[in-house]
Amino acid sequence: SVADKEKARSDPPLKFEVVARYKRARASTLTLPRVACCTPMFMPVGTQGTVKGLTSKQLEELECQIVLGNTYHLELRPGSPLLAEMGGLHEFMNFKRGILTDSGGFQMVSLLHLADITEEGVNFQSPVDGEKMLLTPEHSIQIQNRIGADIIMALDDVVSSVEVDEERFKEATYRTIRWIDRCISAHSRPHEQSLFAIVQGGLDADLRKICLDGLKERGDDLPGFAIGGLAGGEGKDGFWRVVAQCTAGLPEDKPRYVMGIGYPLDIVVCSALGADMYDCVYPTRTARFGTALVPEGVLKLKTNSMVKDFRPIDPECDCMVCKTYTRAYLHHLVTKEGSAALLVTYHNIRYMMRLGQDIRTSIIEGYFPKFVNDFLRRQFPKGD
Ligand code: GUN
Ligand code: ZN
Repeated sequence: SVADKEKARSDPPLKFEVVARYKRARASTLTLPRVACCTPMFMPVGTQGTVKGLTSKQLEELECQIVLGNTYHLELRPGSPLLAEMGGLHEFMNFKRGILTDSGGFQMVSLLHLADITEEGVNFQSPVDGEKMLLTPEHSIQIQNRIGADIIMALDDVVSSVEVDEERFKEATYRTIRWIDRCISAHSRPHEQSLFAIVQGGLDADLRKICLDGLKERGDDLPGFAIGGLAGGEGKDGFWRVVAQCTAGLPEDKPRYVMGIGYPLDIVVCSALGADMYDCVYPTRTARFGTALVPEGVLKLKTNSMVKDFRPIDPECDCMVCKTYTRAYLHHLVTKEGSAALLVTYHNIRYMMRLGQDIRTSIIEGYFPKFVNDFLRRQFPKGD
């Protein structure tokens, strides 16, 4: 009805409220059209409209609040026109909570090393038919508008992690700022979907500042910000320094998303620095190799020491897998069947969800330093 449409327009598609702080760390409520998310929060990656091995219902029972999709993969298959016809990706995969789509540039640079970037956009060869394709900021946003995620990402100029040329980082920084204007202009559904900008600039503090300032100037059209260009194998030192600089420079009243980050330690450190959201393939990918996440670090289910280990993956875990199966049984499946993958994926996602919840509780209840201390002691008992 007209009244519903009016209400939808007056109700912003994203509300962000910080509910507690401990120094720079914060706990917040991020309200999207279908779900109120609690941060800090990890978002599992479901590249092709599915988190490999998990059903949409399982994602909900794991208390997963947002899943990630990728513009590039979804456009190749099944294509955004079909998704639009189906009523968007939420309807298509029957996931009733939050969805975020990445813009596609990063996937092309990281997957197809053939991608070449010009002012117009990202040029690449289609892996389907070898045809030359161009992903412009306008095209990326149009596809994301059709997919219908709650949060959509600006097309950024991502520099490959092997790049050493400083000029290239400078070009990518300024281009990312120029492209944000094209993304904002192309965004046709600002009342339904929230566009996040991505701070680039490599490990260079001056470039990061230029990018931060340039994007913040466009802040009225940007309900959230991401920190990009990290997850590329740089040292922890440089990585944490960049996150510290960006979280200090970004607006207090908007969500901050560190892209491609998913080692538990990194999530704890970035949350201490004031970041709110994370995504990474690590917990799901490592599960498929038989590695489970536990408070002590990782548990490799393939090792022979598991043969007669009748404990669950993690005795403290509340998940269905830990309440049902032993390490010995999972070891048997890993080595003989390969069907352990989905069970370990289930546990690992639960571990990541609980990590965000535990960080959040410790911030709200005022014991975040103790949480960090206990976390580090368990992961690094010898003090290394
Ligand atoms: N995923 C991980 N890092 C990045 C990044 O820098 N840009 C985008 N678009 N996605 C990412
Ligand atoms: Zn478990």
